[in-house]
Amino acid sequence: MRELWYANVAVIGASGGIGAALADRLDEGGIDNVFRLARTAAPGSDSFFIDIRDETSIAEAAAAIKARAGALDLVIVATGVLQDSDGLKPEKLLRAVTADAMEAAFRTNAIGPALVAKHFLPLLRRDTRTVFAALSARVGSISDNRLGGWYSYRASKAALNMVIRTAAIELARTRPQGICVGLHPGTVATPLSAPFQRGVPTPQLFSPERAADLLLDVIEKLTPGESGYCLAWDGSVVPF
Ligand SMILES: NC(=O)c1ccc[n+]([C@@H]2O[C@H](COP(=O)([O-])OP(=O)(O)OC[C@H]3O[C@@H](n4cnc5c(N)ncnc54)[C@H](OP(=O)(O)O)[C@@H]3O)[C@@H](O)[C@H]2O)c1
Repeated sequence: MRELWYANVAVIGASGGIGAALADRLDEGGIDNVFRLARTAAPGSDSFFIDIRDETSIAEAAAAIKARAGALDLVIVATGVLQDSDGLKPEKLLRAVTADAMEAAFRTNAIGPALVAKHFLPLLRRDTRTVFAALSARVGSISDNRLGGWYSYRASKAALNMVIRTAAIELARTRPQGICVGLHPGTVATPLSAPFQRGVPTPQLFSPERAADLLLDVIEKLTPGESGYCLAWDGSVVPF
């Protein structure tokens, strides 16, 4: 089992396919504290409630973790939504776009992670290398968009990439060894991608465990010079 350098880690969205796999892998890596944050809190003293659409719950979770651990070495935001039961879906055409659905995508995929950064970046240690990583998506790349469709998801992930870039600049002022990135996990077999897995060749469809291993490899190798970028599961830069 790999030995990891972090002492205190928070995984936000620990109930999700990728988030749970990341938290499990980190737990297996001999880390002192792996804090799991989710709307549906798993039983256990290291689990905390968070709804990233509710800033009060984000602030309360950050305060509770600060009281427990003091400071964090790594924060991973593994929340996200592509479709929901209220009408958000990956739109094929402009005529399917609605304000309510697009707003829902932005609240979860861009505004939520921005508020998490607001309350969790101050928890990062000041004197050592630390990482804040939010799961983004290659489809949030503007220059890489050749297929079209998925207006709300694409636009919300593009907005997330800008939040990450801007937060990276601010983070560097107080924590020169702090790193703030977006991560594209590849296509991963989770509930989020379930309706779209048909047609993805098996070697390109990662299990959550494989995706977690690949993402942790990328995180371990990150340098401050890569802060503000979006990196894919293989460590390559996803163009904005
Ligand atoms: N799977 C892929 O192929 C793929 C590809 C590219 C990017 N991504 C990105 O990877 C990330 C993780 O996705 P996944 O595949 O692991 O999806 P998933 O299994 O559906 O997990 C999504 C997670 O987000 C959480 N979440 C959603 N809204 C929330 C809220 N308001 N407050 C707190 N938690 C909330 C869910 O919590 P609940 O359990 O409470 O609903 C769940 O834990 C997402 O950002 C996604 O866009 C995934």
